[in-house]
Amino acid sequence: MRTTTRIDQLRAVVAAQRRRGRRIGLVPTMGALHEGHLSLIRLAKRKSDFVVVSIFLNPTQFGPKEDLRRYPRDLKGDAAKCRRAGADLIFAPGVKEVYPEGFSTYVNVEGITQGLCGASRPGHFRGVATVVCKLLSMVRPDLAVFGQKDAQQAAVIKRMVRDLDLAVKIAIGPIVREPDGLAMSSRNACLTPEERKQAAALYRSLKLARRMVRDGERETGAVKREMARLLRREAPLGAIDYIEIVDNETLRPERKVPGKALVALAVKFPKTRLIDNAVL
Ligand code: PAF
Repeated sequence: MRTTTRIDQLRAVVAAQRRRGRRIGLVPTMGALHEGHLSLIRLAKRKSDFVVVSIFLNPTQFGPKEDLRRYPRDLKGDAAKCRRAGADLIFAPGVKEVYPEGFSTYVNVEGITQGLCGASRPGHFRGVATVVCKLLSMVRPDLAVFGQKDAQQAAVIKRMVRDLDLAVKIAIGPIVREPDGLAMSSRNACLTPEERKQAAALYRSLKLARRMVRDGERETGAVKREMARLLRREAPLGAIDYIEIVDNETLRPERKVPGKALVALAVKFPKTRLIDNAVL
């Protein structure tokens, strides 16, 4: 497995593989890899022949008050994990390689970026769509894999690929959870021990929503109220950013539980914001 920081080298290696008839897979990451990422790499490996993992802590998707500086970094550890998961090439560019002097072109996906995380993180999805569009253009993969944990991000990327006619298949890998249900995330490492204990309540609130809907509740307001009650009781160190029940495709909040519903939430612990979701 090779590592490169340069776009021209990345393109040369991928072009050689393509000439040999290999299908190219891409797994974009920001590093600090955990089992959730590794499951995406393994999924890419099953569906393609040559897997590129990009490791790039993308500054344009962080707001001025967000945790870019606190975001965990461990390129050496990440490389070892990628190798074990079956990656063939790591692309780990510096900021100047991706955003050279004078960079001024951004991708803005409208509508579905407004609610949920978009409401409390203005500009976040513009940064995500821009960097993913650039990575797709650099690698030109047959397949790119993202995680369901970032459900809104997955929807935004699918919409961008459709709207810009990008010739790539998008695959979404399932959420990987810790034994107590907490969704794996690079940000979990930033929680204090007490916050970490309380963070398991996020998943319990999603399971409560599932149970209520399965038992016949159709009012999204009632489900959200019970989820909020559980979170306030079991995760008092976290402030609820949002709890929403939305149509899985449009991401529009609904008053009645829609046929294809997604329940999504974000909780802010003092220094760490966590998100999670479940399909109902
Ligand atoms: O999900 C992430 O880690 C990032 O948002 C992504 C897709 C790698 C873009 O920077």
